[in-house]
Amino acid sequence: MITFTVNGEERRVDVDPDTPLLWVIRDELQLTGTKFGCGAALCGACTVHLDGEPTRACVIPIEAVEGLSVTTIEAIDGKAANAIRAAWEELQVPQCGYCQSGQIMSAASLLDGNPKPTDDDIVDFMDGNVCRCASYVRIRKAIHRAAELMEA
Ligand code: FES
Ligand code: FES
Repeated sequence: MITFTVNGEERRVDVDPDTPLLWVIRDELQLTGTKFGCGAALCGACTVHLDGEPTRACVIPIEAVEGLSVTTIEAIDGKAANAIRAAWEELQVPQCGYCQSGQIMSAASLLDGNPKPTDDDIVDFMDGNVCRCASYVRIRKAIHRAAELMEA
């Protein structure tokens, strides 16, 4: 049995210890906002926050999450996350939407640590989040817009 916190709530799951966190989130806890893309830490679709840090849930075994705190797209909150959400809506960032949970989780982390990122900061930080619809230009604009909203 593994015990950890998900979106502020303590959860206990009875699964193989090497089960990836992503499967536990989606299949055991029915939190399906976090997506599966590559399963190999290459695309960022599965990004969650683990003790506040953006983490690829597809490659971290659930045993490594024992006692830690996971936040998913369903519950991300705070100044940066709210600004990101508002900017994403204003600039209509998503196309198919599949990568966007991961994009938002990463973008919120970026602004949490760097509230006024340059283009280069954004490109560097968001490098591991792939978008097959190539929404990168809108993502960059929306992160700048979110930074403005945070200042307002
Ligand atoms: S599904 Fe985890 S990084 Fe691609
Ligand atoms: S919006 Fe379609 S994959 Fe990114």
